[in-house]
Amino acid sequence: MNIVDIIIKKREGNKLSNEEIAYFVKGVTDGSLPDYQISVFLMAAFLKKLDAEETACLTMEMAQSGGMFDFSQVEGFKADKHSTGGVADTTTLILAPLVASVGVPVIKMSGRGLGFSGGTIDKLESIPGFQVDVSEKEAIEFAKNSNIVLMSQSDNLTPADKKLYALRDVTGTVDSIPLIAASIMSKKIAAGADGIVLDVKCGSGAFMQDLASAETLASTMVEMGRHVGRKVTAVISAMDQPLGMNIGNSLEVIEAIEVLKGNVGGDLLEVSLTLGAYMLLMAGRVDSVEKGKYLLQHHIKNGMGLEKLRELLVQQGGNPAIIEDYSLLPLSSSKKIVFAQGDGYLNNMNTALIGRASLESGAGRGYKEQPLDFGAGIIMKKRLGDFVKTGEPLAEIFASSDKKCISAAEYMQQAITIGEEKEPLPPLILKII
Ligand code: URA
Repeated sequence: MNIVDIIIKKREGNKLSNEEIAYFVKGVTDGSLPDYQISVFLMAAFLKKLDAEETACLTMEMAQSGGMFDFSQVEGFKADKHSTGGVADTTTLILAPLVASVGVPVIKMSGRGLGFSGGTIDKLESIPGFQVDVSEKEAIEFAKNSNIVLMSQSDNLTPADKKLYALRDVTGTVDSIPLIAASIMSKKIAAGADGIVLDVKCGSGAFMQDLASAETLASTMVEMGRHVGRKVTAVISAMDQPLGMNIGNSLEVIEAIEVLKGNVGGDLLEVSLTLGAYMLLMAGRVDSVEKGKYLLQHHIKNGMGLEKLRELLVQQGGNPAIIEDYSLLPLSSSKKIVFAQGDGYLNNMNTALIGRASLESGAGRGYKEQPLDFGAGIIMKKRLGDFVKTGEPLAEIFASSDKKCISAAEYMQQAITIGEEKEPLPPLILKII
């Protein structure tokens, strides 16, 4: 078999056999394929698509490209969650401690930022000392002791996805239904949870821009998970504006802590509670989503979610003092305020452009090995539907230089549309599959 023949076959829009897909994934995993051949394969798959059978085959090959975790030693129903990627989408840092504090083990393998979207692993690494590399043995130990583990893909777990994910990020091949489905489900299958709640984002700050594509992606992943015996629910949620107010790594950690302290509500809290409630429902801990949300909210009020976050930080080497003292987290020194350029209602936010602004500030990557500025990012001052006056602050940008702030501000100005008439707000939770 020859990789060039496989690339040409897909380039011409033909269906690949299971053997050809297995050959490709093996070459990615063992390092025998160079990045340029992997990248053009990804572009061919992006443009000519993979059908359901090819996608399922790619998923299973990627899931088996390393070891498969076995958490049977950890008692109880193990719940996992994954987002398809958004902007200011910090739900994991909120719902994982909350769900774990209710007694349902959360063992979650997360990713780094992808395209304009942020990644939980990058956010966790902005916490001084926090270790995201966790072996299977450690993960079992942690889960038994604390009910919570947040970890990156180890070299042993879905190494094929780790490589493909990093290349997709910098080759314009992220927003493909088969590639996203295979990336997410390979990790979820290999990570061994009993149940998975998928947060499928839909809107201008998501890889799926319309409900029909989001539904296709959601159903593809749900069917794949159920096929291998996992409970899977997909929540399709709106991404027409940044979910929280803070965008960037340490800034999002701060907002998550503020939510767990009960100081911040809004869409970020609502989506976190919804996803968490489905995890509790799946685990049989509650018999309705409403009861799940109520219980999680109770664990914000009584501080148990925050205490679980503290336990997680201590367990994985992070400095727990950040919870009380945000100055222990990085914050970039240059600052620029983006002002409203007219009076009216904030009717539209091109959220991918806001994600791009965050990338320009240094919070995201432009190439695979690019180091992040953990203290860079944006604090949004307004939400969709707000009335603003000329000169009012819309957002505050943090970066390591004025030049980066200016570049990010240009994207922010392009992203925001102010109109005379207030437009109706889209619903936050669009569909459950
Ligand atoms: N999250 C992933 O893990 N993979 C994708 O392709 C998109 C979001």
